[in-house]
Amino acid sequence: MSQELTGETAGRVAFVTAGAGAGIGAAIVTRLAGDGLDVVVTDAHERRASELAERLSQEHGREFMSLAVDVTDEVAVQAAIDEVVRRRGRLDVLVNNAGWSKIEPVAAMSVETWRRCIDVDLNGTFYCMRHALPHMIAQKGGAIVNISSIAAWEANAEHGAAYSAAKAAILALTRVAAAENGRHGVRINAVAPGLIYNDFLRKIYPEDFFTGYAEHRSLLGRVGKPDDVAALVAFLVSEEAGYITGEVYGVSGGVSPHA
Ligand SMILES: NC(=O)c1ccc[n+]([C@@H]2O[C@H](COP(=O)([O-])OP(=O)(O)OC[C@H]3O[C@@H](n4cnc5c(N)ncnc54)[C@H](O)[C@@H]3O)[C@@H](O)[C@H]2O)c1
Repeated sequence: MSQELTGETAGRVAFVTAGAGAGIGAAIVTRLAGDGLDVVVTDAHERRASELAERLSQEHGREFMSLAVDVTDEVAVQAAIDEVVRRRGRLDVLVNNAGWSKIEPVAAMSVETWRRCIDVDLNGTFYCMRHALPHMIAQKGGAIVNISSIAAWEANAEHGAAYSAAKAAILALTRVAAAENGRHGVRINAVAPGLIYNDFLRKIYPEDFFTGYAEHRSLLGRVGKPDDVAALVAFLVSEEAGYITGEVYGVSGGVSPHA
């Protein structure tokens, strides 16, 4: 079915990292596509990215692009963003969703774990912003959402210190970049999810991990869904959020509100 696009979202191009997994990334891609944006599905996993783009193309009757992008590869990030601008003519939205963690206590953490976490979560976010911002500045507008986590401020050994440090640094990066770019019409915000259920996490954690969280931590009696995060991201990149920048919003069922 072909879809005629009108209004503010028509023709807006969005670049989403790690957009083809089992969780938040695919929910964001699907939501933004449903809102009428021209979403570019990027992921380190090439086949999953192209399958999702193909599915969206069939559902919406318009072509969605996919690109294999490992966010830790700065050269690949720049090439991908430049290719999007070359093929689509613009870049309006960037969602930095890629994240990685391995939980090891600081006293036993391997340098490899530390470096990998900083590389995917923090450096990857920086590389994408670094190469998207010049295009947004040149076109005098854009919106960036960086996916952080409540791990950025919650004192909880379950998060892993490397992950918490990277996610906290993303908040500082968000605020300073927002200060630098507001006058260029570019808004930059961060979203900090609590536990968001997906099929992949279900393979890692036992079922009682999720039920315990829902019963004892969430104020709403359930864990989060990828769509809960996607809804907030969709709002933040929309014109309705036109006066919002440099902020961080939690989406955690009240588990760890951001003061
Ligand atoms: N799931 C949660 O409970 C939760 C909570 C707080 C924050 N977050 C954050 O939300 C984001 C999405 O998490 P999710 O659990 O929903 O996973 P997801 O399903 O959105 O992401 C998994 C995808 O990431 C891709 N990926 C992994 N490394 C990559 C890299 N280097 N470059 C590009 N793609 C890569 C994988 O191929 C996979 O498709 C992450 O930043 C994560 O830290 C998740």
